[in-house]
Order: sequence, then C-alpha cells, then structure tokens
Amino acid sequence: MTTPTILRPAAALDPSPDHAAAGTSGVARPVVALRGVGKVYPNGTAALRDVDLSLGEGEFVFLVGPSGAGKSTLLKLLIRDELPTTGEVILDGRDLARVPRRKVPELRRKIGIVFQDFKLLPARSVRENVAFALEVTGTPRGRIRPAVDRALAVVGLGAQADQLPPTLSGGEQQRTAIARALVHEPRLIIADEPTGNLDPLISWEILQLLLRINELGVTILIATHNAGVVTALRRRVVALEEGRVVRDEVGGYHRDD
Ligand SMILES: Nc1ncnc2c1ncn2[C@@H]1O[C@H](COP(=O)(O)OP(=O)(O)OP(=O)(O)O)[C@@H](O)[C@H]1O
Ligand SMILES: [Mg+2]
Repeated sequence: MTTPTILRPAAALDPSPDHAAAGTSGVARPVVALRGVGKVYPNGTAALRDVDLSLGEGEFVFLVGPSGAGKSTLLKLLIRDELPTTGEVILDGRDLARVPRRKVPELRRKIGIVFQDFKLLPARSVRENVAFALEVTGTPRGRIRPAVDRALAVVGLGAQADQLPPTLSGGEQQRTAIARALVHEPRLIIADEPTGNLDPLISWEILQLLLRINELGVTILIATHNAGVVTALRRRVVALEEGRVVRDEVGGYHRDD
C-alpha cells in the first residue's frame, strides 16, 4: 500500500523554515501551546484557570473531565471561536489573539474539527459535504475531486459517496465529518465528544480511525467522556477540573486507573 498523500501536504502546510526546527530543549516546536490561559465568560463564569498545555507534532491526546470542566472552552480557544481572558494560545507558533479577524478562516483551515453532532448538510451527498469544505475556500475545481476521493478512502466511505447523510448510520455520518475535517490536510484535528452519539462498538471504530489518521502524522486532541476508550488506549490524558489541569499523564480516565 502506498502512503496516502494526505500525509505529505499536512507537513507542508507551513513552509516557514523554522517549522520543523528543534527548540533549545531539542523538542520540535509544539503544534499548540496554551500559556497561563484563563477564560472568564461575560457572565462571570471562569471556565479555564491558569492552563498550561503543549501538544507536540504527531501527539494523540485525550482531554477529559466532568461536565463543565472547560473542555469545549479549551477547544474553542484553539479555533479562535473564543479568545482567552488571560494568557496566550499559540497555534503553529502564532499567538491567536494577534491574528486579524480576516485571517481567521485561513487559520481554521489548518485544523480539522469534528463535533458530537456531526454538523453535516443533510441535503448534500457525502461527497458534496466533503467537497464543500474545499469549495468555500476557493480550491480549484480540478483539485477538489481527487482530494475528496482521498479523504473518503481514508475513512472507508468510497462506496457511500453519493448517499445523503440521513440515509447513513451514525458511525458513517461521523466518518463523513472526519473526511471533511481531513480534506484540508490539517496538521491538527480536534474533536469534541466525537463518539458521544454513538454506541460502544461504533465508538471504537471511530477511535481506531482517528488513531490511523494520527499514524499519518496528524496531531489529534479529543475531548471525551468515554472512559472505556480512554482507559483502554493508554494514551496521554489531560484532565480538567473546574477549569484547571489536574492531571497530565499517560493513563486512564480516572486518577486511580
Ligand atoms: N458561552 C458561554 N457563556 C457563559 N458560560 C459558558 C459559555 N460556554 C461555557 N460556559 C460555562 O463554562 C464552563 C465550562 O463549560 P464547557 O462547555 O467548556 O465545559 P465542558 O467540559 O465541555 O463540559 P461538557 O462535558 O458538559 O461538554 C461551564 O460552567 C459552562 O456553563
Ligand atoms: Mg463540552
């Protein structure tokens, strides 16, 4: 099997010479770094408090914690859906607070985003849903078709390409959403409860798919309540409680796992 081309352009997204340069620690520059991040919503809710977090190129990380702990807020900061009240959010070396508003769409294209409720266009086919992500960014027509076919092949949905989302199973809908997230060849995929609407077996399939995509070199951050999956996979787990990072280590969902 040949290496999917989806890997190579991901690494080429940022052609700046310092992209892969090692820092003084010998560790490659993180894809994402939060430094002293606090988030207070306008109603006074402190959703994040003094969060420091760094994700290296190619990492696969779970973000866990009770409801209201700040997981979705943290993900929203990464796509600049929200701005931090204090501290800095650095994506690919850039402080997101300094990115001009008109550059935000370009920045989001470096990130693939997957939600619990899939957010597919119901009246468009699987292929059109994935293609739409490229059409809105003005990708030349001739490049869209092969890119969509590649993304659908990675998620194993080639045969369903012409179906409408309401005719798909939940797992197939989430795979469509993952293909849409992949089609830009992002360096980072963030997923907010990607298996929240799926039964356990299908949840495993989705996790296996995200692991395969990670093996292609894409950094992955998943917010989840799925303790079984987190515990079984023995990956890096960042746990939030009341907006603070209370644990950051390889292991299970609970502290005493
Ligand atoms: N737009 C908002 N305005 C005000 N408060 C908010 C807003 N969004 C989130 N919050 C509050 O911030 C806190 C963190 O919410 P967040 O959605 O980040 O938690 P979560 O860890 O994703 O929870 P869940 O597991 O239920 O998805 C909660 O107290 C929530 O009520
Ligand atoms: Mg949430």
